Amino acid sequence: MGAAGLTPGVCAAVRTGRSLFPRGVVFTEAAAAMWEQPLPVAEEQHLAGAVPRRIREFRAGRHSARAGLARIGLRPELLLPAPGGGVRWPSGAVGSISHSGRYCAAAVAPAALAAGIGFDAAQRTTVTEVMARAVCRPEELDRCERDPYPAEERATLVFSAKEALYKALHPLTGVPLGFQDVTVTVPAARLTSGRFWARVLAPGPLSGLRVQGRYAFTATEVLTSVVLSHHPTTGKEPTR
Ligand SMILES: CC(C)(COP(=O)(O)OP(=O)(O)OC[C@H]1O[C@@H](n2cnc3c(N)ncnc32)[C@H](O)[C@@H]1OP(=O)(O)O)[C@@H](O)C(=O)NCCC(=O)NCCS
Repeated sequence: MGAAGLTPGVCAAVRTGRSLFPRGVVFTEAAAAMWEQPLPVAEEQHLAGAVPRRIREFRAGRHSARAGLARIGLRPELLLPAPGGGVRWPSGAVGSISHSGRYCAAAVAPAALAAGIGFDAAQRTTVTEVMARAVCRPEELDRCERDPYPAEERATLVFSAKEALYKALHPLTGVPLGFQDVTVTVPAARLTSGRFWARVLAPGPLSGLRVQGRYAFTATEVLTSVVLSHHPTTGKEPTR
């Protein structure tokens, strides 16, 4: 047990959450039982014909999100998929889910705190050299050579950062963005955790948008987050 009476695994998750998110965002990693436990019927209906891996991930994501929402005082009956992807979060909350086969977590916050959240998890070596050419821009690949970690892990960090950005922006704007439409910079690459900048290069309503995100490496995963303090196109701040 750790100093606060928590098990080492829970302590590690708390530390990870602190490096990834500002205060007020609740980060919940899926416990073993969450991958198996069935969801309400109306949610399970979205799994018709799904392969076992998808069923497990969907369940783990929804249970993690529910656990996080309970911590901010919300107990929604259902967390149904949103029409454009993502989750129909209950009124008063924003959030994001990610799963990578053996890891799953959710981040949620009161809607008064953030306009949107994007969270992504990827296994550390998800992006191979061949895949990196599609995911990374030339300047991002160039920076890989100067990093303290292997090129695959750097490319996975860039990949995950772009996915986190997409998950934060897409529900608010509906703007499609490809991997070459965004450039990610990691100013002082560190082995454990830090910040990155993502800038939208594509023309359109998000052109020139620059957003700061955070990353953290666990033993097996690269985790990234983007928390939007205001709406990316209208500039509207959450009503506090
Ligand atoms: C949507 C996307 C980012 C999801 O990422 P992924 O690595 O496939 O899967 P993850 O496990 O990390 O995340 C899946 C969760 O993301 C959420 N999600 C799916 N589509 C989403 C969207 N449009 N907006 C926000 N969240 C979304 C869902 O909650 C989903 O889990 P669930 O179906 O169990 O509820 C990815 O499939 C995609 O479409 N990428 C292309 C766009 C992109 O990333 N561009 C990068 C340039 S910015």
